Amino acid sequence: MTQSAHCPVPDQPSLNWHLRNTTKASDDLRHLISDIARSAKYISYAIQTTDTGLSGNTNSFGENQLKLDELSDDIIRENLCENGTVCCYISEEKDDVIELDPSATFTVVFDPLDGSSLVDANFSIGSIFGIYQDGDIIGKTPRDQVAALYVLYGPRTLLIYSCGNGSGVHEFILNDVGEFKLLRSHLGVADEAKNYSPGNLRAVTTHPQYNIAVEEWMADEKTLRYSGCMVADIHHILSKGQGIFTNIGGGADSTYPDGKLRHVFECGPFAYLVEEAGGLSSDGTQSILDKKITDVDQRTAIIIGSKNEVEKTVRTLSA
Ligand code: AHG
Ligand code: MN
Ligand code: MN
Repeated sequence: MTQSAHCPVPDQPSLNWHLRNTTKASDDLRHLISDIARSAKYISYAIQTTDTGLSGNTNSFGENQLKLDELSDDIIRENLCENGTVCCYISEEKDDVIELDPSATFTVVFDPLDGSSLVDANFSIGSIFGIYQDGDIIGKTPRDQVAALYVLYGPRTLLIYSCGNGSGVHEFILNDVGEFKLLRSHLGVADEAKNYSPGNLRAVTTHPQYNIAVEEWMADEKTLRYSGCMVADIHHILSKGQGIFTNIGGGADSTYPDGKLRHVFECGPFAYLVEEAGGLSSDGTQSILDKKITDVDQRTAIIIGSKNEVEKTVRTLSA
């Protein structure tokens, strides 16, 4: 970093300053992350001001789409189009890969609004993003991401990002004039978990080993922290520096045979962030970071968080 005496290190660095001075991100990647952050400001505002009723549409998975899902998707699309370095994007709200410019550099995968069914209850919700170099992510793995970030819309709006390769995971807060300012740098995840966050708990009826894992957490007197929004629940782990989050499939005859969450735009970005912070992710046999992308709407089981607890849970689930 070359720092002019006229440009001292700011007391509270902005996201742009942080990207430019503490990472090896190219200018293109820095601009892309900044434009994604801009879309998050609009989504944050929309959540506070938009009708939260159902739109009557369903997405490719047959789920009801809230107006805010569609609006968030539109806001992100507009910002990615304006950015100019995105060759294509894959959104949870769209059935296909959306091509923008074949000659451009990045593919962006995202869940525009995660936990959207919680909006009317005024729970925290979020947006999740993964960034890949070049087009066509089929056959790649989440380890190929060049950056990942999420935004948590709670009592405060927070943005957490990493550019990987040991550069760390960093947390920013949206201030009153619409700037993301550094709150905490180098978030870490300890090896032992005190909190547990068991998703798709309906699977315990068909997957006895999941039931045993839950009983072990209760017997250990761990503290339950589950909100129903993956962004909030995994942010809890990164914020407190420990914990475990699971979303496990219930097997062939269950509602979600392979778990409820999507490999590409939900689990992949979080695996990148949590492993960068010193935690671990698994689908039960391998790291989520090494699981091949075969389909854009592929689902995966996920066990993620504190290393020792993830390893122990994987053993319990496969016993
Ligand atoms: P989305 O709103 O994008 O469909 O995602 C909701 C997800 C995720 O955030 C959460 O972890 C999971 O649904 C909750 O599922 P269960 O309530 O079945 O545990
Ligand atoms: Mn989601
Ligand atoms: Mn969603």
